[in-house]
Amino acid sequence: PTPVILDCDPGHDDAFAIWLAAGDPAIDLRAVTTVGGNGRLYHTTYNARVVISLAGIEGVPVAPGADSPMVRLLKPAEWIHGDNALGGPELPKPTVEADARSAIELIRDTLDAAGEPVTIVATGPLTNVAMFARTCPDRLPMIREVVWMGGSTGRGNVTPYAEFNAWTDPEAVAIVLGTGVPFTMVGLNVTHQVLATQEVIARIEAVGNRTAAFGVELLNFFNSTYETDQGMPDGPLHDPVAVALVARPGLVTTVRTRVDVELHGTETSGATCVDLLGKLNRPPNANVATGVDVPAFWQLVEDAVRTLA
Ligand code: BDR
Ligand code: CA
Repeated sequence: PTPVILDCDPGHDDAFAIWLAAGDPAIDLRAVTTVGGNGRLYHTTYNARVVISLAGIEGVPVAPGADSPMVRLLKPAEWIHGDNALGGPELPKPTVEADARSAIELIRDTLDAAGEPVTIVATGPLTNVAMFARTCPDRLPMIREVVWMGGSTGRGNVTPYAEFNAWTDPEAVAIVLGTGVPFTMVGLNVTHQVLATQEVIARIEAVGNRTAAFGVELLNFFNSTYETDQGMPDGPLHDPVAVALVARPGLVTTVRTRVDVELHGTETSGATCVDLLGKLNRPPNANVATGVDVPAFWQLVEDAVRTLA
C-alpha cells in the first residue's frame, strides 16, 4: 500500500476522504493533519477526531496545523459546511486525542520514519504544506507527491473563477508549486462529476454500520446546503477523489500541464490558471485531473466504509 499523510479541514467531504484513506487496502494512512479552512482550526481538528473515532480507526495520529492562511484572513465556509464545519449529525465525543505535536512536526516525523517517499493528500487550503516547505525544505525530497483537491480548469465555486481551497490560501498554492515537488491537482472540473445522488446515499445507507449512518446524515446536510448555495441538489463529494487517485491509479485521468494561481486579480484572486493548450510556453509543473470513472469511485467509497465501524 502507498504510505499517505492526509492533510484536511473536515468538512463533510473531508470526512469521506479520511474514511476512504483509512478503509482502502491500497493506502497506508500514516497521519492526519488539520488546517483552518471549511471551519476554524479547533473545529476541523475536533471534527477529524470525531470521524476517526466513530469509524474505529486506530493508530493514526491527528495533529493540528495552521489556523489561518499564509497572508489572508480565513473565511470559513459555513454556508456549505455549517457553523461547526460538520453540520447535520450530532457529533459523538471523540475518543481519539490530538497528538502533542504540531502538523509540521508530525509530517516531519512521519517522513523521517517512513524509509520511503510518502504521498501527501491535501483536501483543504495548502497552508500546512506550504508551511512545511518553509520549515523543513531539506525533507521535500521525501515527499513522493502532493495530491491536492483544489482549483479548477474552468470556473470556481466561491467566486466565478476561484475554487474554495485555492481562494482561501492562493499564496500557499504558489509556494507549493514553487517547490518542484511532484504535484497533482484534482479540481472542480472533475469533482463535480461525483454527485451524492439519492441512489448513492441509499447505497451508503445499505452498508448498515455506524460510519455509514453518520455519513448519510452528512450527505443529506451537504446536499441541502449545495442546493441552496450552488443550485446543485446532489452535492459533489470533492475530497475523496484525490484519495481515489492515489488508491487506484487510472481511476482518475490526468494531463501534464502548467498551473499558475492568480494572486493579484481584482476579480479572479485564487483562480487556478491551467494552460491546457500550452499557450504560455512555460514548463509543465503539474498533473491535472481531467476525468474520473464515477461508478468505480463510488464502489471504492462504499467498500471502504464497509471496512469501518
Ligand atoms: C473544497 O472546499 C471545501 O468546501 C471542500 O471540503 C473541498 O475541499 C471544494 O471546493
Ligand atoms: Ca476539504
